Amino acid sequence: MPRPVLIDTDPGLDDALAIMLAFASPELDVRGVTSVGGNTGLQHTTENALRLLHLLDRDDVPVAAGADTPLVRRDSRPATEVHGEEGMGGVRLDPAPRGADARSAVQLMTDVIEQSTEPVTLVALGPLTNVAALFAAAPRTAARLERIVLMGGGARILGNTTPTAEFNIWFDPDAASRVFAGGVPVTMVGLDVTHSAVTTPGDWDPLRGGGRMAEALLGMVDFYTARHVEWSGSDRTPQHDSLAVAVAIRPELVTTRHLHVDVECAGALTRGMTVVDLEGLSGEEANTDVALEVDGAAFAQLLVGRLAELDARLGA
Ligand code: RIB
Ligand code: CA
Repeated sequence: MPRPVLIDTDPGLDDALAIMLAFASPELDVRGVTSVGGNTGLQHTTENALRLLHLLDRDDVPVAAGADTPLVRRDSRPATEVHGEEGMGGVRLDPAPRGADARSAVQLMTDVIEQSTEPVTLVALGPLTNVAALFAAAPRTAARLERIVLMGGGARILGNTTPTAEFNIWFDPDAASRVFAGGVPVTMVGLDVTHSAVTTPGDWDPLRGGGRMAEALLGMVDFYTARHVEWSGSDRTPQHDSLAVAVAIRPELVTTRHLHVDVECAGALTRGMTVVDLEGLSGEEANTDVALEVDGAAFAQLLVGRLAELDARLGA
């Protein structure tokens, strides 16, 4: 029985691959996609989500726009240096034949959760503003979620945006703090594992010469890898968001520990830091399954294999 999922996302190049993986995988039944500002502005993340689903022949799945800016902070900036101004690395996708759903992201999430006969898993791939808004607007509905699998934070590898903060949490730390404290089971897929969930250019050879999806995907991968080479000197490119989706498909890909996590919201040097109580020193009850180890080879094989299969199904 496919697991019903909602995807909250700020596409974004690694988001795009993660969305493709979700729709390539029979284990998941994507009931809705909600967009959030993060990698680039909401107008672009919403349009990118619509165009990606059109590329995948999935115009049937609703896309609803959420928040453009964080709950509280007014000093968050997008990651356009990584994803390009419009968030797709300069790759031009065909326009979708539809616009965003008339509902807000919170209303779409609420409707999907309330109307599902099976508990829904929420896969969060961007800043957690929409998810925190769901908790605030419809706490009883949020409590019905099976689990939130989120890409964000870090326990031992702390930062990619500041020395102590990962981008999704850094962008909206107040929202993240509310989500970790929200009482819904959370799996944190952070930098400790995404930095070992990497692809190299050669990994993508099975998609070269493929169809229209492969052509778009390779353009995105090339841009994203080039930015990572500039940033780190290595072409081993972390597929942050795809690992979160992969964990929703195969939780056994990662090893987790049940720990207490909260988020620093005020620190001048530590704003957006996920404070992971690895040694149980806080006296606080554990609230998160924190991924600390990953089978990187199995992840990369799943990602590339599933995307190659989907591309073959979609054709030219
Ligand atoms: O730190 C990586 C995360 O920030 C990913 O979700 C990427 O898309 C960016 O949003
Ligand atoms: Ca993202």
